[in-house]
Amino acid sequence: MVKKRELLYEGKAKKLFATDEEGHLWVQYLDQATALNGARKDEVLGKAELNNQITSSIFEKLAVKGIESHFIRQLSNDEQLVEQVDIIPLEVVVRNYATGSFSKRLAVEEGKLLDFPVLEFYYKEDALDDPIINDDHVKILGIANDEEIAVLKAAARKINEVLITLFDEIGIRLIDFKIEFGRSADGSILLADEISPDTCRLWDKETNEHLDKDVYRKDLGDIVPVYQEVFSRLKNK
Ligand code: TMP
Repeated sequence: MVKKRELLYEGKAKKLFATDEEGHLWVQYLDQATALNGARKDEVLGKAELNNQITSSIFEKLAVKGIESHFIRQLSNDEQLVEQVDIIPLEVVVRNYATGSFSKRLAVEEGKLLDFPVLEFYYKEDALDDPIINDDHVKILGIANDEEIAVLKAAARKINEVLITLFDEIGIRLIDFKIEFGRSADGSILLADEISPDTCRLWDKETNEHLDKDVYRKDLGDIVPVYQEVFSRLKNK
């Protein structure tokens, strides 16, 4: 049985602990919701268990489709064991429909189906407010080289295809999402972090109801029943 060791890192939604197993980390999800780069923060009881279970379920389903991630196994309702990776400081966003910062920045109608999935890189740097950057910026900042950028883009597009189908089967339209990658000990690039209603925009196919963190961002109500709905649909699939 793996043992939890010292706290290595505390993020906005998760704590990361060392373990007694070489190269394995213990992730503890937190009952915490944040927006505006952490400026708004609330305790949300039940969120940790839901996001851990949703992420675990999605990473398992991606693995079946040949997409490797850092996920090893679920340890409890709100904890999981993952492979240690060096997180690449990029938020990779894929958009199928216009909304959010894309609609705002480019004045594209909210909810418009895009002709093809649009991929964006944001530099994960709180002090700069995570600016959008292009491939040259990724290279000049030494974040990733050409070959790695190609790997990240191909993986993001493949993940998008698998997730579109997965969510479609449970009556959900995948509007957009954010993923992160890391470099494992052998240098390979692995999907990491989480995939949950915190990191995706999920709209009910029939009603266009938000089944994601926009409920919190826009103050539309309690997110726990909303995340529970996503988890129930995933579980029963
Ligand atoms: P955006 O429209 O606000 O740029 O968000 C695009 C997608 O990325 C959306 O699904 C929410 C997700 N996202 C995160 O997971 N974390 C973030 O810090 C941001 C800005 C967006």
